[in-house]
Amino acid sequence: MNKKPALLQLVPLPALANADKQLAEDYHVIPLWLASDVDTVISAYKNDILAIVTSGLASTTAELMDKLPALKAICSLGVGYDTIDIGHANRRGIQVSNTPEVLNDCVADLTWGLILATARRLGAAERYVRENQWGSGANLPLATKVSGKKLGIVGMGRVGMAIAERSIGFKMQVRYHNRHARDDTPWEHEESLARLASWADFLVVATVGGASTRRLINREIFEALGPQGILINVSRGSVVDETALVQTLLNGKLGAAGLDVYESEPNVPDALKKLDNVVLLPHIGSATLETRCAMVDLLLRNAHAFATTGRVITPVG
Ligand code: 8YV
Repeated sequence: MNKKPALLQLVPLPALANADKQLAEDYHVIPLWLASDVDTVISAYKNDILAIVTSGLASTTAELMDKLPALKAICSLGVGYDTIDIGHANRRGIQVSNTPEVLNDCVADLTWGLILATARRLGAAERYVRENQWGSGANLPLATKVSGKKLGIVGMGRVGMAIAERSIGFKMQVRYHNRHARDDTPWEHEESLARLASWADFLVVATVGGASTRRLINREIFEALGPQGILINVSRGSVVDETALVQTLLNGKLGAAGLDVYESEPNVPDALKKLDNVVLLPHIGSATLETRCAMVDLLLRNAHAFATTGRVITPVG
């Protein structure tokens, strides 16, 4: 019987789709997150490790890749791959797969949840009921209407498109800012991000993370969005200057924010937690049973395809 190739697993997979059992059919799986001495484990298996399984929750650095001379594939759970050094993987000829498409609907659904929760102050309204303030004479301030407003989307990729499609029922005008204008959408491309922000009532961040977008959404953009404007971020915390966001919310130059992602997860600045015009979610864009099953299944299919054919099926890019 042929010896199975080794696979270094950097993070646990959700207990779905028989993930652990399925991976073990093709690979000798080394669960690195369980190791007390990571370096010892890596040096014991370094010449056998053919593949890595990871996610946005772990860093797959050039340094780690270079400790593994036999590494040929990285299979990541999630669509974002900003925590993987793609340039280095390309130089080394290492294939990288992610799990695109299957999470578009859930991330877009959650975006609308955040738009509504932030504008209509659903968190504060719910707390008002739970804390028995309803009927006590305590005032619940009026909220902001969503329907008929202007929606700016930063990043008109697969998730951005799914967000824009959902705006129809809300009778909103949509414009977007992207590296390139798309010729397959009815929405207007806005060359300048600052102009998009000053036009929009809601600015939704759905772009990729990583060096190319780091702190793209900064004080200038918050102030262009303005005191009635609402910022929503469902992409990566790194895209938004979090310190400037807190300051701009505090000085009233930005109206409100709904966030699913943060610069240093799971750490959320205390200053944000104290603000009533902010809705904070713990990075749950794709966190439904159906979508996580589909993501795990696609990751497993990539790992299996690589083991059996030498090619992943959804390479990044
Ligand atoms: C996951 C995500 O929560 O797909 C992404 O890029 O951010 C999320 O769907 C994350 O990858 C952890 O698995």
